[in-house]
Amino acid sequence: MANFLSFDSRETMVAAITADTRARLEAALGKRGEARWAVSGGSTPAPLFAAMADADLGWHNVKVALVDERWVEADHARSNTAFLRRTLLTGKAADAAFTPMKVPGDDPFAAAPIVDAAYKALDPFDLVLLGMGPDGHIASLFPSAEGLEAAMQPDDVATVRAIRANRSDVTGDEVLRLTLTLGALTRAGAVQLMITGDDKKAVYDAATDPSSDLPIGRVARALGNRLSVYWAA
Ligand code: 6PG
Repeated sequence: MANFLSFDSRETMVAAITADTRARLEAALGKRGEARWAVSGGSTPAPLFAAMADADLGWHNVKVALVDERWVEADHARSNTAFLRRTLLTGKAADAAFTPMKVPGDDPFAAAPIVDAAYKALDPFDLVLLGMGPDGHIASLFPSAEGLEAAMQPDDVATVRAIRANRSDVTGDEVLRLTLTLGALTRAGAVQLMITGDDKKAVYDAATDPSSDLPIGRVARALGNRLSVYWAA
């Protein structure tokens, strides 16, 4: 069972996840001299990133990576790389070493092995931050997507795999993606899921029922208590 942490305001939730993030990155820095942190795009983590961007941390020894990316260039409005450069990789955190997922080419399925090789050097991550969509996707593990089952093997040696999602309001036009695999999530030191609102809580609660095959439910069941869910209405 995941640890479900419920907060009475978004401010207290952000303060708690910021403190946990700092503690885990500092512990890794103290132990190994480097910390590996994979982070989600989406709107929910923006206040966490604002707080972390100003944190006094040995950022030059922190390796930042993505949990997923749309197959778009870094100047695209929905690029997670662009989002991170605007939100997290500014201020003090600008010293972190960032490894993007987008590489040249038209086809993420053809490029996945190249990105996987770069991301293997970061796996296992000390900490992974996930968000969740209203359809129960996390990272780019979208329900019924092409590539989903390949990316959902708990003992997958691959760190990154390609996905072609079914087009929906959540995906927009950007159905071609790269994602961390369930194998990479399973190997990580700790995984946080940050969600807000009653609707997402209802999706999470329904997905964790053993009869649900939504990606978030499958991931939560695979991770057990190494997953901490941060929630506020
Ligand atoms: C992305 C994320 C994605 C996101 C959810 C939730 O790149 O969009 O990796 O999985 O976390 O869609 O997004 P919101 O936080 O905006 O609700």
